[in-house]
Order: sequence, then C-alpha cells, then structure tokens
Amino acid sequence: MQPKKETPAPKSPNMWDSEAKYYSLMTLMEVDGTNKQLDCIPLEPDFVVLDCGCGPGRVAIQAAKRVRHVICLDSSERMLEECRKNCAAAGVENVSFVLADWQETEIGRTIPEVDVVIQSRGGGGPSTLDMLRKAARRYAATVMWSDGAPCLPESRSKIFVGCYSEEDMERYPELRPFDRKRRPPRGPGGPGMGPRPDALPMGGRALTEALEAHGIEAHVTTVDEGWNRRFATKEEAYEWLLQLSRHPELVDLERFRANVDTYLTPREGGYEFFLPTQSDVTWFATR
Ligand SMILES: C[S@@+](CC[C@H](N)C(=O)[O-])C[C@H]1O[C@@H](n2cnc3c(N)ncnc32)[C@H](O)[C@@H]1O
Repeated sequence: MQPKKETPAPKSPNMWDSEAKYYSLMTLMEVDGTNKQLDCIPLEPDFVVLDCGCGPGRVAIQAAKRVRHVICLDSSERMLEECRKNCAAAGVENVSFVLADWQETEIGRTIPEVDVVIQSRGGGGPSTLDMLRKAARRYAATVMWSDGAPCLPESRSKIFVGCYSEEDMERYPELRPFDRKRRPPRGPGGPGMGPRPDALPMGGRALTEALEAHGIEAHVTTVDEGWNRRFATKEEAYEWLLQLSRHPELVDLERFRANVDTYLTPREGGYEFFLPTQSDVTWFATR
C-alpha cells in the first residue's frame, strides 16, 4: 500500500486580514502623528530599521524617509499587501517585505540583524529582552496608546455611533460601537502577549518598570496626535470617511454626517477633519 500523501495543514485565518483595508485607510490620515512619534526615536540616516507588525506601513513609510532601509514584517498577508501598495503610492523604495510571525522569526535567517526594532501598537506582540537584544544593535522602540486615549477601533466607531439599527448590529456584531469595558487588559497577559512568560509588556509604564528591573533606562514621550485629513468640501469628507464602514449601505447617513461634522473645521480652501488621540513612544538601548 502506498503511503498517504501528506497535505499541508490549512492556514488558520489571520484576524488581521479582515482589518487590513480599514487600517490602511486610517494610515492615510496619520502622517503627521506618525512623524511626531518618529521624532521621539533616535533614528540616523544610515540605520536599518525593522518595523515589526508593520500593518499597512503607517510607521514604515515615514521611517523609510529618515533611514537607509526599513524591513516591513507582518504575519498577515493582507496587511503586508496593503503595506506594499502604500509604500509604492508614497514613492518609498528603500523597503523590503517579510511575511512572518515575529515570535517564530530567527534573526540571521528570516531577517538580518538591524539597528532599530520598532513595534507599534502591539505589532508583532511583545518580545523578550533577549530577542530584542539579538535583533537590534542599537535601540528598540514601541508606540502604544496612552492610558485612556482612544485606540484605532474606538476612534473609528466615534464617527459611526448611532448609525446602525439594533437589528443590523444583532446581525453584524462587528458594527457595535467599540466598548472600552470589553477591551482586553494591557498589562502582562494582555492582547498579543504570547505564551512566553518572559515577554516584555509593551505599554509605556509597565515596560519602563520591566526595563528598570534589568537596569535599563527607558525614554518615554507622550505625543498628542490624531487622525487628520483635508477635504475640499463636506460632501467629499462624508464620502471618503464612509469607506471606513464595513457596511456603508446600512449607515444612517443623517446621523453619520452629524457625527463627522463634530470633527470638521472650516479651513481656507475646504475643511480639516481631526480626531485627536495620544500615544506613548518608548525607546531603550538594546546593548
Ligand atoms: C494594530 S496593528 C498595528 C500596525 C502598525 N504597526 C501601526 O502602528 O499602525 C498590529 C499588526 O501586527 C501584526 N501582528 C500581530 N501579531 C504578529 C506577529 N506575531 N508577528 C508579526 N506580525 C504580527 C498584525 O498582523 C497587524 O498588522
């Protein structure tokens, strides 16, 4: 009897794939905030940077304008696809793309050693100090929402609050407004913390404490930022922002326009949309 031919195990669906399109759109509204965050990290023109859990390239694109090369690593195919597209649209060429799970990444094999590792908004989950030291010759940096500041899904749901019927939310639970009470904890054991007991927390204060325990000085800066975009008319703003809905056909447009109006300010030649948030940027020397 012939041995049964092995079929590869089906790939488990990556929850980030379904978020890629929305994260990508919001990336286009965060250029100013991202640059403010990068201003807090000591990047030098000849550095090679790893953007770990790069998503649609929000950090990678702006970082690539400041350093020699950026490696964009993500475990979601769709996110990496958006990242490629956004890098090309921004005319950024000093980037490379790696589809990999950071927790399984081997420095020297999957990716080379770099000068700086950036993990932004939980990208890639936390790593151990040993992993970071091995990966980055110079620094590791994290970008996390400040305590109490709205995260991306929370900000997005602000413009859709009251826009869906109870019946539609029952049918598509993802349309329910972001609920802070259901947000997973941010400390050890929080989202993406991985199975490793020695994983570093990625939130500013907890990370600082963990580093201090190793005698490492952490540099933390709080950055006021937000989602912003200029529109020529209010109609253009409504149309563009409606793309952020998973079911635009179900949106109560009157309520949606009223929500959007609260974040629009008339400016010369049109309107500016601005939805504020805040992040903590932390960096430390790895060696
Ligand atoms: C919240 S998004 C942040 C995206 C981007 N870093 C930013 O700040 O805009 C988290 C990203 O991390 C990626 N990610 C999560 N766990 C990962 C892992 N273990 N290895 C690689 N990427 C991972 C997800 O696919 C997603 O693109």
